[in-house]
Amino acid sequence: MMMQTKTAGPGSFSGFDLSSVPSPCFVTDMARLEDNLRLLNAVTEASGARILTALKAFSLWSTAPLVSRYLAGTCASGLYEARLARAHYSGLLSCFAPAYKTDEMDELAGLCDHIIFNTPQQISRFANQATAQGAELGLRVNPCLPQGEVEKYDPAAPRSRLGTPVSQLADYHFDQISGLHIHSLCEQGFSELANVISVVKPLLDRAGGRLSWLNLGGGHMITAPDYDREALINCLCDLKQRYDLDIYLEPGTAIAFDAGILVGEVMDIMENDGPIAILDISATCHMPDVLEAPYRPALLAEADTGTGVLVRLGGPSCLAGDVIGDYWFDHLPVPGQRLAFLDQAHYSMVKTTTFNGVPLPALALWDSRTDSLQLQKQFSYEDFEGRLS
Ligand SMILES: Cc1ncc(COP(=O)(O)O)c(C=O)c1O
Repeated sequence: MMMQTKTAGPGSFSGFDLSSVPSPCFVTDMARLEDNLRLLNAVTEASGARILTALKAFSLWSTAPLVSRYLAGTCASGLYEARLARAHYSGLLSCFAPAYKTDEMDELAGLCDHIIFNTPQQISRFANQATAQGAELGLRVNPCLPQGEVEKYDPAAPRSRLGTPVSQLADYHFDQISGLHIHSLCEQGFSELANVISVVKPLLDRAGGRLSWLNLGGGHMITAPDYDREALINCLCDLKQRYDLDIYLEPGTAIAFDAGILVGEVMDIMENDGPIAILDISATCHMPDVLEAPYRPALLAEADTGTGVLVRLGGPSCLAGDVIGDYWFDHLPVPGQRLAFLDQAHYSMVKTTTFNGVPLPALALWDSRTDSLQLQKQFSYEDFEGRLS
């Protein structure tokens, strides 16, 4: 099954000069990022719920001062992201990983405010070590309510390893933790969250005041134009009032939604039962979710469906399946021609590889309000060489 791209369109990127950056290059629009952050901050202002940015989705840390101005902190997936959070971001730091190692726990718990465990066994193993460093403990619960478009991206899918199944929660578990964590959504709207809340409320009733916080994870498309933010705010206010808890959300995608593009160029055009363009952008190296989900990323200024010429766009690697998709062009593209894929700020630059020695895209910050452009980083042969020995 193919996932659908969620992009709402090019926005300000339709005015971006694609030739102004090296190719390939991830370009992040600071203005759009700030718009997203303002929307998230408005949810906090209206509901009192605190929003953490999930570094796994978007950790372009040159934007950390801006992100930290609007959000309450960060959510990390382990020691490296926790270090990054403390080095560049401010606010509360929460960490969840499916399992932890003994030799990382002292440092991790020293960095984090909340350490969230996947199972009661992990709590038994690490509770003393983590609390000795001052961290509060949480348990991730799986509501076992599959609602995802694709099973691979649904933490509540059958046989999921993410979170303790809700039926296994015993009363004494509430005595061992300060908070509950539930992350079971992926790019979803409020109605799916409402379904999750209906599983969470009986748990909070059972906890009977023993918890001090509730973390509702990520997967909330709060900054998408059709997200029902009003309903979210009402729901969060109700939970807060009913249970007197600190409430956290830790979205990733919503922070950087539609705030970035990946610029690339055509290297060659060939013919095999239709035109094929070889790009300097690789699906497997630069946009792995295209193959993993799979999904077809939107192309900036694609011609209307059925008009012009349909061209297969593929990457420079040896992988036969390194194909981004088939796209409509007014005219057959030519070598050197620039193009860009939309909504490429999240789960893209954090997931790149140098398979085949394909160069990593440069990183640029653009401000669509002023058209100012800053090339933050260009990668070199040494970055490739340095990953192996
Ligand atoms: C535990 C946890 N929190 C937060 C997130 C961020 O989710 P999203 O980027 O879908 O909002 C994820 C994503 O996988 C996650 O696993």
